[in-house]
This record gives sequence, structure tokens and C-alpha cells, in this order.
Amino acid sequence: MSERRTALVTGANKGIGYEIAAGLGALGWRVGVGARDEQRREAAVAKLRADGVDAFGVPLDVTDDASVTAAARLLADQAGGLDVLVNNAGVTGGMPQQPGGADVATVRAAVEVNVIGVVRLIEAMLPLLRRSTAPRIVNMSSGVGSLTRQSASAGEGQTGPLSVAYAPSKSMLNAVTIQYARALGDTNILVNAGCPGFTATDLNGFRGVRTPQQGAAIAIRLATLPDDGPTGGFFEDAGVVPW
Ligand SMILES: NC(=O)c1ccc[n+]([C@@H]2O[C@H](COP(=O)([O-])OP(=O)(O)OC[C@H]3O[C@@H](n4cnc5c(N)ncnc54)[C@H](OP(=O)(O)O)[C@@H]3O)[C@@H](O)[C@H]2O)c1
Repeated sequence: MSERRTALVTGANKGIGYEIAAGLGALGWRVGVGARDEQRREAAVAKLRADGVDAFGVPLDVTDDASVTAAARLLADQAGGLDVLVNNAGVTGGMPQQPGGADVATVRAAVEVNVIGVVRLIEAMLPLLRRSTAPRIVNMSSGVGSLTRQSASAGEGQTGPLSVAYAPSKSMLNAVTIQYARALGDTNILVNAGCPGFTATDLNGFRGVRTPQQGAAIAIRLATLPDDGPTGGFFEDAGVVPW
């Protein structure tokens, strides 16, 4: 893999996504900074470029068909293709989301970005990825989406607060990851889900205990898997996450 590789990172203007872009850029990759707000996107691109990253802005709202279609066109026209898609953009959907006190709009908002947005991106980018020599799809999931961890007893691996929107949206994203990995099993496209760990970002009011750079490490690892690497898996820094 000596040729220059191109990645698109969604939600790359801040938090973990920004650090994924920075990490891949440090490896010499061209990085598309997918972000919906022009000012935040251009600020991130400028900062990455100042650090020596070959970054370019990709206007992108993952909930919008036209925006995603235009992003695919931009990658084809300006970057000449796509090697790695990192579906990092994510939202909690809002609060409260405790079962028994939640609004369905909260669930819909989480699923719209965390699940449907990912499907929309993969479908739009697949024609480009199929032309790459080592294509990878990385879906930023969460350990709270693990059904094993959701159903564990307190003190025995139970993860995350009660949530009828965010955690189930990540469980569905995990299933989506498996479905694409199965469908693409006879291709060279590796599809995996990653968990960044509890990371200090806007998503959780900066209550996380890991730095965004630490949170980005798993996505960078999955983006740079060798050709004989795993597909259809769920990983965190420490290893495999149980479904
Ligand atoms: N932080 C954690 O502890 C943690 C743990 C497990 C998993 N994760 C996952 O890691 C990923 C990154 O989260 P983070 O902690 O870095 O959160 P963050 O700082 O809030 O960043 C989220 C990113 O997603 C973008 N985004 C949201 N809706 C979007 C849309 N419709 N179209 C395009 N971009 C959109 C945001 O853009 P705007 O700036 O425009 O809003 C922002 O760039 C998420 O998938 C999250 O679920 C995080």
C-alpha cells in the first residue's frame, strides 16, 4: 500500500472525529473533514493543515440525502476516490431518554444520525470504496450498544446509564455493521465497529475520562487494518467487545 490513501471522517470538526482526522493525516493520508457547519469545518481544516495534514473540507450532513450525494461527488472529483470511510458523526438524540420518561423524538433523532446516517453514507460511498485497493469502513459505535454489557448486572460489566435512544441506536449500528460485513464478505472491503471508550467531548459534557486522541486510536487502528484483518467485528483498545 504505497499510494497515497484518502479517508473521509464524518463529524470531523471536533471531538474524536477531529483526532481521527489528525491521526490519519499524520500517517500521510489525505483526509476529508466531513462536517455540516461551514465555519466549524473550515476552522478544523485550517487547524489540521497548520499541523501539516493534507486535509480538505467535505460539506456533510449525514441526515441529508442531497448532502451525502454531493459529498460522494466531491470525493470522486476532487480526491479521485475514497479508501476509508469512518462513520464517526453521532448524537445522543437529547435528554431525557430514560425508559418510562422519554420522548420518541429523542429516539428518532439518535437513530436518524447514528444508524440511518451511517447506512446513507455507506450506500453513497460504496461505488468509490469498491475501486480502492484496500477499502475499509469503520463505524464508531459504543460499548453501551453492546447487548451483553447492557444486560450485565451492576458491577459485572454493566455499561452506561438507562437509555432508550442512544444505547439502542448503537446496538442497531452494530447489527448494521454485521450486515454490511456479511454482504461484502467476498470483497476486500473490511467493515468493523469500534468503541472509543468514555471520552471527554461535547457529547457527554466533557465528563469522559479519556482524551479525544485516546478515543480516536481504535478508529485509526481499524482504518489501517492489513488486508487479512478482521471484518464484522466490534473492537476497543483492549480487544474484542462482546455484542
Ligand atoms: N465521547 C464518548 O465518550 C463516546 C463514547 C462512545 C462512543 N462515542 C461515539 O464517538 C463518536 C464521536 O463522538 P464525540 O464524543 O467526538 O462527540 P462530539 O464531540 O459531540 O462530536 C460529534 C460530531 O458529530 C457531528 N454530527 C452530529 N450530527 C451530525 C450530522 N447530522 N451530520 C454531520 N455531522 C454530525 C458533530 O457536528 P456538529 O459540531 O456540527 O454538531 C460533531 O462533529 C460518536 O459516534 C459517538 O457516539 C463517543
